[in-house]
Amino acid sequence: MSMTARRRLRDIYLLTDFEKAVRRYLPKAVFEYVRNGAGSEISLRRNRAIFERFLWRPYRLRDVSACAAEITLFGERYAQPFGFAPTGGAAMTRYDADRIEAAAAQRHGLFYALSANSLTPLEDIIRVNPRAWFAAYLPSDRGVIDGMIDRVSHAGYTVFLVTCDVPVPAQRIPETRAGYAMPIRPNLRATLGGLRRPGWTLGTLGRTILRDGNPRIVNIRPQGGPGLFSREIASVGGSPCFTWDHIRHIRARWRGKLVLKGIMRPEDAREAAAIGVDGIVVSDHGARLLDTTVAPLEILREIRHASGSMTVMVDSGFRTGGDVLKAMALGADAVMIGRPFLQACALAGAAGLDRAVSILRTEILRDLGLLGISRLEALDMTLLKDLHEVGFAQMAPDTV
Ligand SMILES: Cc1cc2nc3c(=O)[nH]c(=O)nc-3n(C[C@H](O)[C@H](O)[C@H](O)COP(=O)(O)O)c2cc1C
Repeated sequence: MSMTARRRLRDIYLLTDFEKAVRRYLPKAVFEYVRNGAGSEISLRRNRAIFERFLWRPYRLRDVSACAAEITLFGERYAQPFGFAPTGGAAMTRYDADRIEAAAAQRHGLFYALSANSLTPLEDIIRVNPRAWFAAYLPSDRGVIDGMIDRVSHAGYTVFLVTCDVPVPAQRIPETRAGYAMPIRPNLRATLGGLRRPGWTLGTLGRTILRDGNPRIVNIRPQGGPGLFSREIASVGGSPCFTWDHIRHIRARWRGKLVLKGIMRPEDAREAAAIGVDGIVVSDHGARLLDTTVAPLEILREIRHASGSMTVMVDSGFRTGGDVLKAMALGADAVMIGRPFLQACALAGAAGLDRAVSILRTEILRDLGLLGISRLEALDMTLLKDLHEVGFAQMAPDTV
């Protein structure tokens, strides 16, 4: 570990510490792009507060000398029940962040999803991490969809994740105020922000421009994608007329595992299962789209029940090992982590990610022991008290 990484990681004990620490090293526009949420950030706060609704009821006097936290997803074994959510723009937080994150997931035996909004060709990422998943933003044009499926399949990916929750572009005020915009346009605030963070300006922006010229989001379309400084970048992303018909079309063409990300209603989970989708991610996109949605954690059980044999993952606001275990007790098969991994990578690259993974892994194993269970399969609702349960106060004391 470099001296710089050692110094920057000195006070990092929790996943939430990364956000505080990285503020000092990223320009405000980039810091806010990662941190902020939509609207008044009510959902952003709720995604954290909701963990106070479900409280543990641990077992006692059980042998927990051999706790294990491995899981199987889509036929693959993973070392932990958490992995990397797809995060676009990762390479704006640190030079080559896509590769650094893909490699960290591979090193630690975690699942990793590459966002279509990335600067590193998907063909290169799968060489770094042969089990990587691909997370697409698709238009409604079936020719483009087919081209994308063929490209991803040809590269060797076996899990195709379709992000379903961005039919129209979202707006986030803090990043806009700080000068963040796509395409990147020199503006006073962003320029001042960059001048205040010369390490980032030279080490991330400068190096990326030196390597790529106008860095392109190369994985958004079959033939590549527009540059970060090009006007066309504003028009790529989700599509307002991308619907369930397109999912049926994708299901017919894509032979591997198909995952829909952003599901927030039981009937949508049922529809996905009926189409033959293999997995869903219950997610409000980390509260970055529609403000005042329900928190994914509080609708997880309902959606799990509607999902049949599909794999059910969840994300948005997970920051501790205990959070991950609560989701599993409510029926999730795995949890995706977004911002903390980006912030850890921005702060200290591979060493930052090693620290983040180690924190979560240690918390999970410790909490399993403290809960009195040694296997994830033993996690269920009886371990949790749901403070919103109707009639809870009237229940007999021995069941409370
Ligand atoms: C900076 C940033 C970029 C993101 N880009 C994408 C993306 O390209 N595709 C996608 O499906 N989700 C994207 N997400 C959402 C994440 O996959 C995930 O749902 C969310 O970050 C989880 O919440 P958390 O950050 O609280 O862990 C992004 C999130 C962040 C913070």
